[in-house]
Amino acid sequence: MNKKIVLTGIKPTGYIHLGNYVGAIKPALNLAQQDNLIPIYFIADYHALTSINNPSDYRRYIYSLAATWLSLGLNPDKVIFYKQSDLPEVFELTWILSCLTPKGLMNRAHAYKSKVDINIERGLDIDNGINMGLYTYPILMAADILLFNADIVPVGKDQVQHIEIARDIALQFNKTYGEIFNIPNYSINEETSVLPGIDGRKMSKSYNNTIPLFESPDKLKKQIFKIKTDSSLPGDPKDPDNSILFSIYKEFATQDQILEMEEKFRNGIGWGQVKQELFDVINNYLEEPRKKYMYYIERHELIDSILKKGAEKARELSSPFLKKIRKAIGAE
Ligand code: TRP
Repeated sequence: MNKKIVLTGIKPTGYIHLGNYVGAIKPALNLAQQDNLIPIYFIADYHALTSINNPSDYRRYIYSLAATWLSLGLNPDKVIFYKQSDLPEVFELTWILSCLTPKGLMNRAHAYKSKVDINIERGLDIDNGINMGLYTYPILMAADILLFNADIVPVGKDQVQHIEIARDIALQFNKTYGEIFNIPNYSINEETSVLPGIDGRKMSKSYNNTIPLFESPDKLKKQIFKIKTDSSLPGDPKDPDNSILFSIYKEFATQDQILEMEEKFRNGIGWGQVKQELFDVINNYLEEPRKKYMYYIERHELIDSILKKGAEKARELSSPFLKKIRKAIGAE
């Protein structure tokens, strides 16, 4: 039986928060446990370049993201784990795919369109502040995916359109040059894909409502105590299904703890107490990973060597496949 390839990337644009962990990293690490899948996970560093132009921030975010994956349990002997920019094949394929991608497809991409809309709203030139990297972002992402003939791409809901674009591009290529690419599918984890942030909206760096994963316990506690609650008092029965605190609690607590907490909500536990218990559960959950994170983050050479080895493994797959693609288009 042919093993399926599951591939995903995260771009290093900031420090990983609980929402990234629950929505992306945790499900990907669970999939990596399945014997019938080949997991390929990477740091999409050149995607981050569309928005980050400060070299020291950029470098810091890359190492932080690598250390995050490793400390949460990514085993580089089992997962092909690399940095996108270490694979020249990705960028060659990006160009080939660009030449098959209708410009109109890029005009319709959400990330680009929403920037245009903001410019129009503000009475600015429609392309104000938009670089070509942002514009062609979906093509680079299609190359990431198609270069490995990935079957399954676990992503958040905001990325679904990008996978659809990758599918369109693959179909266009196959129609033009013959059946080279597999048509990839996305997978979204419906239940856990969206963790609320401290204001109740989706936890996201752009909303400034995140709880960082690897901060000190003090900072973690501070953020948790900022989470918005309603004005009900200790003693008032509360609805767990309507509580940001409970939504987050569920992701880190054991089944027994979750049931107990539901009971406490019905019995009118005070919000301060819920916050304390939420902090305890998360802090406990993160204790070991936090130590590992500190270990890796102080050892850049170790991270470098893990990523280099990963890139070598990745290139064992990508370079013969790119050769096949080059043959198909007539470059060889
Ligand atoms: N665009 C994705 C994000 O912002 C990151 C990404 C880049 C990616 N290349 C990918 C995800 C390939 C899945 C597959 O989250």
